[in-house]
Amino acid sequence: MRSFLFVPADSDKKLAKGAGSGADALILDLEDSVALSNKPAARANAGAYLKSASPKGPKLCVRMNALDTPLWQDDLKSVIAAKPYAILVPKTITGGCIRTVSAYLDGLEEESGLTKGTTKLFCVATETAASMFNLGTYGGSSSRLFAMTWGAEDLAAALGARDNKDEDGNYTGPYQMARTLTLLGAIAAGVMPLDSIYKDFRDEAGLEREARAAARDGFTAKMAIHPAQIETINRVFTPSDHDLAHARMVIDAFDKAGDVGVVAMDGVMLDIPHLKQARALIARANQA
Ligand code: COA
Ligand code: MG
Repeated sequence: MRSFLFVPADSDKKLAKGAGSGADALILDLEDSVALSNKPAARANAGAYLKSASPKGPKLCVRMNALDTPLWQDDLKSVIAAKPYAILVPKTITGGCIRTVSAYLDGLEEESGLTKGTTKLFCVATETAASMFNLGTYGGSSSRLFAMTWGAEDLAAALGARDNKDEDGNYTGPYQMARTLTLLGAIAAGVMPLDSIYKDFRDEAGLEREARAAARDGFTAKMAIHPAQIETINRVFTPSDHDLAHARMVIDAFDKAGDVGVVAMDGVMLDIPHLKQARALIARANQA
């Protein structure tokens, strides 16, 4: 999975458009893009959409409201029986938040006659100041957890920041730290590092730059807020023919050299980490 498109679940028009967007996954949003008065309608829409969607379409996820609201349990009650691929938990503070949601899902899945663990979980793990100190606590929280992502908008609001980017459009320190710690926390937990959104949806060059930087650092997917962003994200996160050919050459070089830890290729030293990277890239391409 390379691209996850947010779709406000109270918008029939956007729900209809999401399926054909080319996104690998949709995130039907019940949280920040939906006004409080529209939450019941959004829940009903999301449930109906899940039931009627084609299994050949994108994987369907739902973003619930945060654990400190009185909304999240009703969110889950209205969608779990319709078997979403995953629930996105916003504003998590520690891995304990994942345990809490997972335990609640155990009960709902049992009531719905589903196998325990059917519903996966992922989280936006950097939306409060306290969250930032706990990005290493997600490992082992639940076997449901498959990805971790980060967000700069709620964190900026929580910090009372005037902006989260500098004059050149680059994230400032707190948000770069959120991004980096999410990448490290996800890898440490053995789950997918998922890059955040790029909110200027008319700025294709900016999106491409940000997506490339994420892929370079180790993120394997990115979230989107507009269908026009999907083509770029899918392209950037698909290993290119050039990258795959290079990975095969690295593996070949080690195979030919026999039982060694280091080889030279085109004047460059390659040792075991390079071999691991090459194998991981091929594995990811095979999976896709
Ligand atoms: N999912 C599905 N369809 C979408 C979409 C989305 N996220 N964003 C836009 N579209 C649709 C529009 O409805 C429109 O459809 P139409 O051609 O049938 O009229 C088309 O794509 C073009 O949209 P456009 O006019 O360029 O944008 P807009 O002004 O309608 O919407 C936003 C802009 C930002 C309000 C919209 O993209 C959006 O709601 N994004 C998601 C927001 C969100 O979920 N935020 C929470 C996570 S951070
Ligand atoms: Mg938010």
